[in-house]
Amino acid sequence: MLRVGLIGCGAMGSVVARELEAGTVDGAVLTGVLDPEVDHRLGVADLDSLLSEADVVVEAAGHGALRDCGVAVREAGTDLLVVSVGALADEALESQLRQAEGGRLLLCTGAIGGFDILRAAMMFGPLDDVSITSTKPAAALVRPWMDETMRDGLAAGSAPVTVFDGVARMACERFPESANVTATLSLATIGFDRVRVRMVGDPEATRVRHVVSASGTAGTYELSFENAASPDNPRTSAVTAYSVLRALTDLRPPAVSFL
Ligand SMILES: NC(=O)c1ccc[n+]([C@@H]2O[C@H](COP(=O)([O-])OP(=O)(O)OC[C@H]3O[C@@H](n4cnc5c(N)ncnc54)[C@H](O)[C@@H]3O)[C@@H](O)[C@H]2O)c1
Repeated sequence: MLRVGLIGCGAMGSVVARELEAGTVDGAVLTGVLDPEVDHRLGVADLDSLLSEADVVVEAAGHGALRDCGVAVREAGTDLLVVSVGALADEALESQLRQAEGGRLLLCTGAIGGFDILRAAMMFGPLDDVSITSTKPAAALVRPWMDETMRDGLAAGSAPVTVFDGVARMACERFPESANVTATLSLATIGFDRVRVRMVGDPEATRVRHVVSASGTAGTYELSFENAASPDNPRTSAVTAYSVLRALTDLRPPAVSFL
């Protein structure tokens, strides 16, 4: 039995907890939940208690929690499945998490996918260009650092507005809540300083759409994703909780593998 500890029981973590308790992942059992804000029947008071009963810890709590707990989880010999992948845009944290010895560092694919084919393409030859265009409801993209013209363009709501066009590391700084997919794509392919990101506010959009494009000697690729929002947190795609459950399924000895 794979024993799963959970850090963070919010919009995403609560679905992971509920589905694990319902037996959705054959051969996995939820053994503890660490979240000071949530009263869960498997709630634990601290990380040590969580680690004492877990083979893998799912982090679904945010960048601060990953910073506070990530290295300790690996050093305890426990696998760490990271959902807040955007935190790794911080080079110091990325290097601490990579260098910690013990359990494995596992990055959840989250709200997008297709890394299998992109990684295969990179083994054939270099990928020269990798980009992601994320289109969101215009109002969701207004940020305090934007100038008046950009804010007015988003508020006017008459046409799509490109609010960012640059490299992934900068995108993660400017739009931290959109950093996770950008970070996962960067880490899986050509890195935070080479992946190009465009952020578009669309007054007509009701879902978040990500289009990943890549090209290299192996071929050209275009992958598109349109995700419904979580009913509990409009900034989180509902499918992300299920990508955690899928990852836990793949950690079990499989009857069939999609490798
Ligand atoms: N990889 C992806 O594609 C992807 C997609 C969407 C969201 N995310 C990330 O997943 C994370 C969770 O998202 P959510 O929508 O469930 O957020 P949420 O705000 O609904 O829930 C977070 C929960 O974590 C708890 N928490 C915060 N700090 C904690 C700590 N130090 N220890 C224990 N618990 C702590 C909070 O009390 C809260 O209940 C976020 O970081 C989000 O950016 C990743």
